[in-house]
Amino acid sequence: MAAILDHTLVRCDITTIRDKDTPPALFRAALDRIGYHLAVEALRSVPTSSVRVQTPLQETGGDVLKGKIIVVPILRAGLTLLQPFIHLVPNVAIGYLGMKRNEETLQPYEYYANIPSIGTDDTVVIVDPMLATGGSMCAAIEYVRHHHASNIITVSVIAAPEGIHAVENAFPDVRVICATLDEKLNEHGYIVPGLGDAGDRAHGTL
Ligand code: PRP
Ligand code: URA
Repeated sequence: MAAILDHTLVRCDITTIRDKDTPPALFRAALDRIGYHLAVEALRSVPTSSVRVQTPLQETGGDVLKGKIIVVPILRAGLTLLQPFIHLVPNVAIGYLGMKRNEETLQPYEYYANIPSIGTDDTVVIVDPMLATGGSMCAAIEYVRHHHASNIITVSVIAAPEGIHAVENAFPDVRVICATLDEKLNEHGYIVPGLGDAGDRAHGTL
């Protein structure tokens, strides 16, 4: 079952990114802030190993990350959610997947892929602000699974019910996290109320 964030600050920033008059700089800044909340939630339970640590007073138990955290932004819009993961996990590994949705058929096609090697203890977090039909996210999951990913988390900002169902039906073992669940897709495959085209708004290419 998808996890949906419930936080006042997130709701305020979602209002900012929905606003059609928000310029790209403020749009990116708000997405970046939302990204921190999403990253904290996504990484809440990643595998750790127990270690001993010596404080100035005594020895005690602690944790270190067990495997790599690999964050995979789906280009272009997914880049807006990358920085929070880099800040929270400085030695995060980064993979890139370029996916473009054909706006007639709504089918994604892959135009670039560069993913680090994935080990059994690694966690792969695929990030894309928009989960619409779910086609791009499902293709990305398929790609990383083909490259041996077993612990996969998806992170989106605005999700349509159709997108969540598509991912959950195809990949029941994948954890789905989003910041808000919108009403539906319109006849053009856009999320409503949504925010329009995330990639264009983030990159100033409207
Ligand atoms: C957007 C968005 C997702 C995809 C979601 O990307 O960033 O990747 O559409 O739609 P889906 O769930 O129906 O597949 P787009 O293809 O517009 O590319 P862009 O990020 O380069 O603008
Ligand atoms: N891609 C977007 O950027 N926005 C949508 O609403 C759907 C797909």
